[in-house]
Amino acid sequence: MENPDLSLYKYKGYYFGRLELRIGLLENLEDFEIREDDVFVITYPKSGTVWFQQILSLIYFEEHRKRAGSLDTNDQVPFLEYSIKHEDIVKRPSPRLFATHLPYYLFPSGMKNKKPKIIYVYRNPKDVVCSYYYFFKNVKLQVTGSFEKFFEQFLEGKVVGSLWFDHIKGWYEHKSLCNIQFMMYEEMKKDLRGSIVKVCKFLGKELSDEDMDAVVTQAMFDNMKSDPRANYDSLMELDGIPRNGHFLRKGTIGDWKNHMTVEQNERFDKIFQREMKDFPLKFIWDM
Ligand code: A3P
Repeated sequence: MENPDLSLYKYKGYYFGRLELRIGLLENLEDFEIREDDVFVITYPKSGTVWFQQILSLIYFEEHRKRAGSLDTNDQVPFLEYSIKHEDIVKRPSPRLFATHLPYYLFPSGMKNKKPKIIYVYRNPKDVVCSYYYFFKNVKLQVTGSFEKFFEQFLEGKVVGSLWFDHIKGWYEHKSLCNIQFMMYEEMKKDLRGSIVKVCKFLGKELSDEDMDAVVTQAMFDNMKSDPRANYDSLMELDGIPRNGHFLRKGTIGDWKNHMTVEQNERFDKIFQREMKDFPLKFIWDM
């Protein structure tokens, strides 16, 4: 174990959490059988994964839109990393919906022939590092150190997900080999309906106005935060340890300004410019 604080486990150059190791799933990942009509939401941690799990579940499951289903969002759109030994999930009828933090090079190789639908959600990395810090500090209770220390670990890529820069570039550089739609967290914040319309088009799903209203309403931050099936609180409480905060924390753009010093910000900008030089996707850093 290289970092007891954050329970990291390095596998093929990428940092996973200890959970994946404990349930021994990683060796089987590459051979996981992909179907053409699978749908994946892929993210670097803290970029809007649960938000998109909720959106996908609402788009695909009528009972979820009608608030009738009993399954949590995380069961409707399970994490690939934790699912591959669960036959009931693997054998689900199509289309199967999955979330994952996998980097491009560890994704099941069947993707190359089957071309499942992939939605890559990205968020400005300054907000990602803040969100991540609070996740470990208040939800996972694994960070006892300062933001400053966590900030350094993030820049070194010593967190689950490894280096943010490598994750997004890895997927973007291989986009011509995948059927992939990039979605920006901040654009979803600014125009949730427009973003959902865009993703429905990509997925080939047509929703009535009434259904679209239901999806948009139930994907709003406040509604998800108060919805026990969507807010992950029950998942976080499984081990019975009381948390200091919630998985759905603030859901805002630009919270980094409340946490990063001028010096940290300047350093981050320099690294970002170096790492993301000529990278075509745009970023939004504040409202
Ligand atoms: P904050 O910690 O900044 O609040 P992930 O699911 O990838 O771990 O990302 C979690 C982040 O997405 C958290 O950010 C969470 O609040 C935010 N989030 C989740 N649902 C959201 C929603 N409906 N609208 C805006 N942000 C949301």
